[in-house]
Amino acid sequence: MAEPVQTPQASFAPRIFSGIQPSGGLTLGNYLGALKRFVEKQDEGIETIYCMVDMHAITVWQDPAKLRQQTREGAAAFLAAGIDPARSILFNQSQVSAHAELGWIFNCIARMGWMSRMTQFKDKAGKNSENVSLGLFAYPSLMAADILAYKATHVPVGEDQKQHLELTRDIAIKFNNDYGVNFFPVVEPVIEGAATRVMSLRDGTKKMSKSDPSDQSRINLTDDADTIAKKIRKAKTDPEPLPDSLDGLKDRPEARNLVNIYAALAGHTAEQVIRDYAGAQFGTFKPALADLAVAKLEPITLEMNRLMQDPAEIDRILGQGAARAEAIARPIVDQVYDIVGMIRAPRT
Ligand code: TYM
Repeated sequence: MAEPVQTPQASFAPRIFSGIQPSGGLTLGNYLGALKRFVEKQDEGIETIYCMVDMHAITVWQDPAKLRQQTREGAAAFLAAGIDPARSILFNQSQVSAHAELGWIFNCIARMGWMSRMTQFKDKAGKNSENVSLGLFAYPSLMAADILAYKATHVPVGEDQKQHLELTRDIAIKFNNDYGVNFFPVVEPVIEGAATRVMSLRDGTKKMSKSDPSDQSRINLTDDADTIAKKIRKAKTDPEPLPDSLDGLKDRPEARNLVNIYAALAGHTAEQVIRDYAGAQFGTFKPALADLAVAKLEPITLEMNRLMQDPAEIDRILGQGAARAEAIARPIVDQVYDIVGMIRAPRT
């Protein structure tokens, strides 16, 4: 093994990559923790690459027709939320084979011990770990490949992806050390804003998730205005009014969640929301939150519906994005093959 190298990370140009799984409809958690922030990043003048990670989705069973539909719907959500395919690269993962190729190399870099510590794998596999796919176990190494195939330096995500990004850093460092190169950047997780972890509307200690069996636990980006308002009105809370400081929300996970959601939708801090609503009952706060949620989400839902009328146009955008993504990732993965010692002979 080569000598460890010091990695002067400043030598990597800033580039943003992030992805969303088309394993179900997108939720308010995906919107506030990821999509909304992807759009903000697009406006910061750094190259932004966004991906519907369909290869990750099949680590658990997906009906093929539904997978196609959900991939297009996810892409429509990106566009409806404000991603401009002229300024950002938007594509689906399986159209760029560099992801799978680098994923294999990283399977040979990542250690079994590292992967076994992934809490999301343990949560998803549960008691059933003998019977889940090998892909589910290897998933975080494919995620590292998604990011590093572009030498991305910054990855905006929700709180739940933090451990996967730490693994991505470990893989980059080990690859660089093993081969004595300063090839991959050590990525920065970008986990910021008031809603890095949006919780279930039925249980403030559980993450809002597209896979929760209860539809009442989440707001879907496809929900209409009435449904959104109803779900917020019925959200679990406690009998106390809102406190006058954030400290007062410490042991009130459901109240804290609604305050965070309000803050993220309004573009305020949670402190500001508490200042405005100190002493308010949920009878007052919930309708205000419902109005805000509808005002922010309804235009996105309507635009998604409009875009979904023309799936060929969505496919065209994904194809164009894939070509641009490929142009960045191909030379990077080719260099990886050279570094690792694989022969790439001219085809005669
Ligand atoms: P996924 O598809 O579960 O979620 C997509 C994004 O939404 C965020 N998110 C949330 N944020 C706040 N509150 C919530 N309740 C909530 N639920 C989801 C996630 O943190 C994520 O940012 N492994 C990833 C997809 C992925 C990826 C990547 C991400 C694959 N390759 C490379 C970044 C870079 C996942 O399953 O996200």
